[in-house]
Amino acid sequence: MNTLFIGQNKITLQTVDSTNNYAAKLIKMSFVPDGTVIMAQNQTEGRGQRSSEWISESGMNLLCSYILQPKSLTTEEAFYLSAAAALGAREAIESISNCQTARIKWPNDLILNDKKVGGILIENSVIKGSIKYGIIGIGVNVNQNEFNFQHATSIRNVTNRIVDTDSILNLLSEKLEKWYLLLIGKKYTEILEAYNNQLWRSDIENKIKLNGNSIIGTSLRVTPDGNLSFNSNGTRHNASFSEARISYE
Ligand code: BTN
Repeated sequence: MNTLFIGQNKITLQTVDSTNNYAAKLIKMSFVPDGTVIMAQNQTEGRGQRSSEWISESGMNLLCSYILQPKSLTTEEAFYLSAAAALGAREAIESISNCQTARIKWPNDLILNDKKVGGILIENSVIKGSIKYGIIGIGVNVNQNEFNFQHATSIRNVTNRIVDTDSILNLLSEKLEKWYLLLIGKKYTEILEAYNNQLWRSDIENKIKLNGNSIIGTSLRVTPDGNLSFNSNGTRHNASFSEARISYE
């Protein structure tokens, strides 16, 4: 693996409640080098966004959490950490999948050939308005081939190949580092532009649930604060994560 620090300190576990929980405990207990990654074969209480569960067949997929210490990143700039993580994960997935198209579904679902191949759960610990630690939990469906969710897929389903999770982790560390270094260098315009360029279905009609109502939205863009901006019925809307959700249909 070719990185300066991301993924260099690696903790491998067989079973854990959640790699994000393990990372949070580790931070409380001791000094943790920037870029430390915790990887597990199995999670008993894997967590997803919007208080959902993250279910993964044991030993089949990539389940990991990176601990990042971005130093001077404020909570107002938190979206760029999320965008950098999504861009890195997207790139890793695309390159391991023989360049099948990988995209980002707002805010950070990972899409491969129009289905969800992975997700990211970020939990930040904040001191005086700055992010002291970011826990970047990433789950990628690698070798599992059956899912309860009809819009889910895996790298194996798309490529017909069994892929070793360690090699994806290495690639992920490299790609994350590339985007993390841009984040540290405060290249926010570049990050946001790249993120918007990789946004799934940005130019076609999407079913969007906005404050409980289903509407059709087009021309999707994400604003610097991480909100979703879109057109619907001649009006430009701007909605936060708690207000809007894009449907897979
Ligand atoms: C989502 O799409 O809802 C986000 C899923 C994030 C899942 C990963 S798996 C590794 C890490 N540990 C967790 O409990 N969740 C994240």
